[in-house]
Amino acid sequence: MKPQIEARIEALIGKLCANHSLELDEYECLLENYSEGAFRLLKKHAQKLRHEIYAHEIFVRGLIEISNICKNNCYYCGIRRDNSNCERYRLTPEQILECSDEGYDLGFRTFVLQGGEDSYFTDAILGGIIREIKSRHPDCAITLSLGERSFESYRFLRESGADRYLLRHETADEEHYNKLHPSEMSFTNRMQCLRNLRELGYYVGCGFMVGSPFQTNKTLAKDLKFIEQFKPEMCGIGPFIPHKDTQFRDYKAGTLELTCYLLSIIRIIHPPILLPATTALGTIDKLGRELGILAGANVVMPNLSPVNVRKKYELYDNKICTGEESAQCRSCLNNRMLSIGYEIVTSRGDLRNTERRV
Ligand code: SAM
Ligand code: FES
Repeated sequence: MKPQIEARIEALIGKLCANHSLELDEYECLLENYSEGAFRLLKKHAQKLRHEIYAHEIFVRGLIEISNICKNNCYYCGIRRDNSNCERYRLTPEQILECSDEGYDLGFRTFVLQGGEDSYFTDAILGGIIREIKSRHPDCAITLSLGERSFESYRFLRESGADRYLLRHETADEEHYNKLHPSEMSFTNRMQCLRNLRELGYYVGCGFMVGSPFQTNKTLAKDLKFIEQFKPEMCGIGPFIPHKDTQFRDYKAGTLELTCYLLSIIRIIHPPILLPATTALGTIDKLGRELGILAGANVVMPNLSPVNVRKKYELYDNKICTGEESAQCRSCLNNRMLSIGYEIVTSRGDLRNTERRV
């Protein structure tokens, strides 16, 4: 890299650390000029900020994949409606409760109920499940990740006891959004859902895939600006990985390098953010989750779904933790984190250093 560019990147990183903010074109410049040196510097700052707030603690979330039935047809997703090769399943409320009981005994204090947009899960059914988990385990937080619902529905679920909601915005660029989704889905509604969730007092998580088709440094810069301005409590980013039964099957997967670079930048933009090292990152590289943590992530989300359905929740090809080994995710991740000097803690894992607590 030319010395002038190197100096410019160093100055931009200095500015980002001082202000937790950059102009759009500055984010773009940081992305255009990825280098190992720039990553090392960002990672050093990201680690320092993260250690000041969370020390070497890693928060853990028990992921329960409640259904792979979905009314949507997102072009990238393996459980999209039109994928007739996808063998569909839905957990019963009793199965979901069993997963959370088992998770509780393993030390989980947050459960994430994730699934496709499955109309079986009405407000009444979900509300019943949420209330029952909360009454059995009052010291736990419940996170939902069930896609777009109405304001009234989000309100009902919040009043039933849900604490947090993950809804990736997927991209902050409307044109890009429209290339990833069919016309019946709308960027405006996605963004409105995030604002509604915020208004209702949820901890809100946005996020996007790294290296999704048609993504550019310009669209990524917009994602970073959106995170800077919206200040989500959580942000899920992981590489896009093609799924054989989607129209994006021949596109390249996102990279480990860019994902880790972005994790460091996001940590610096919003130091207290809850940032997972995702399963997708662990799928593109054996040590992906460890490297994600070292880049600034502080959350892992092992799978608690019944082992016999895990292969069916295949958003992308070759997803890890779906075979025989998968019953052991919690202890596997414990060991992985210990191997890099971090430790999984038994707690709800709320955001620190902030007034808000739900
Ligand atoms: N239905 C809910 C929703 O829309 O938020 C939750 C489930 S959805 C499958 C969870 C996330 O998986 C999506 O937001 C998307 O970013 C990610 N995802 C889907 N297909 C993927 C792929 N091929 N590679 C990587 N991530 C993918
Ligand atoms: Fe699932 Fe290692 S985290 S097997």
